[in-house]
Amino acid sequence: MKNWSVQDIYPTPVYCADVSNFDTIQNEIKGVIDRSNFDYHSGFGETHKLSEHFSTDVTKYLMGDLPIFSNELNGHISRYCQQLNFGIREYQFVNSWMTLFEKGDYAHIHSHNDVDFSGVYYYQKESDTEDFFFESPVEGAKLSAAYYGGRIYPPTHTGLLMLFPGWLYHGVDKIEADGKRYSISFNIEFKKFNDIFPVNVL
Ligand SMILES: [Fe+2]
Repeated sequence: MKNWSVQDIYPTPVYCADVSNFDTIQNEIKGVIDRSNFDYHSGFGETHKLSEHFSTDVTKYLMGDLPIFSNELNGHISRYCQQLNFGIREYQFVNSWMTLFEKGDYAHIHSHNDVDFSGVYYYQKESDTEDFFFESPVEGAKLSAAYYGGRIYPPTHTGLLMLFPGWLYHGVDKIEADGKRYSISFNIEFKKFNDIFPVNVL
């Protein structure tokens, strides 16, 4: 019995990194937080508050106010693409917003549908709390502890950036700790073949 292996047939690549120019980025984000309003979103109930950037109104474009952070993200997105063997190409932020969680808040299990990459940056997070989780994308894994029991709680902290597939379900358990947790969320779409060579429908 010498020729055997276990292969990860359906692994899910999730990118985690600390930002490089932390102080400058924090300062830039603080400026935007200070002049933003946070409120419950009617579609989500009183679960957690979102900034006014969570909107289809393009004049409320968050990333436009965060040039240093956007530039930093570009390097991480390139690195993530490299790891995925996915040639970097033009992309856009389809939306981006800030989130405020306080004690007792939570987030329903949800995905970001068909966007290419979703991302989150923790501007401020209480230490020693693990309440953000990913659900296994393998349907059957949710039924078995041997396959992670369906949920994984990645360690998260202030200054952490995570990039993950938009289809990966995730949520936040009810927060036990005191304090205000601020994070930035965004969705990214890459230019598609069809965008570059649109089908001629004469
Ligand atoms: Fe989300």
